[in-house]
Amino acid sequence: MKFFIDTANLDQIREAHDLGVLDGVTTNPSLMAKEGIKGTENQRAHYVEICNIVQADVSAEVIATDYEGMIREGSELAALNPHIVVKIPCIAEGIKAIKYFSDKGIRTNCTLIFSVGQALLAAKAGATYVSPFVGRLDDIGEDGVVLVGQIVEMFRYYGYQTQVLAASIRNTKHILACVEVGADVATCPLSAIKGLLNHPLTTSGLKTFLEDYHKVNG
Ligand code: E4P
Repeated sequence: MKFFIDTANLDQIREAHDLGVLDGVTTNPSLMAKEGIKGTENQRAHYVEICNIVQADVSAEVIATDYEGMIREGSELAALNPHIVVKIPCIAEGIKAIKYFSDKGIRTNCTLIFSVGQALLAAKAGATYVSPFVGRLDDIGEDGVVLVGQIVEMFRYYGYQTQVLAASIRNTKHILACVEVGADVATCPLSAIKGLLNHPLTTSGLKTFLEDYHKVNG
């Protein structure tokens, strides 16, 4: 399973990258706004900075919602750095834009996926990734992990190469649940990735090992 970090915060991206297990980064307009990054030039410079840190897939989302606008903006984003993956919302114009980019060999991440049908359309259009939003489905009383599993099964059954990128991951338990259903990627907050490390027996076991070492070695 690949791990992406779901943030535009450079300190968190560096920390996750330094762990040595980071496979990429996802951003969205809300995450960019949270970092206070204003204006097209600054945003694009920020994407390049993220690419330079991780040297791996970085999803950068288009703001346009019309086909021509998405093509223009997505092409500009893709030209920034070879690591950029153009993130496109799952709307009709977006599906058309994904097909365009797929035909040009430009990688895409179809975002805001909340159903198997949406994932199917994105895969047929040639999306590199589809992003089902786990946490947001859980928020409305549905089961986001079940959707991830259904998409994984559907892609395997029909042989689609599109990768299932579990998004809107809120905690460590979400990651583990996505592992169980075979998600290709999980994009997570840093806290959820670090949560995978936690086990009381690791903490107590290490404490005992060190105490025993010092009893003999001072
Ligand atoms: C990532 O691709 C998504 O934009 C992100 O995971 C959404 O997460 P949220 O539902 O916590 O905002």
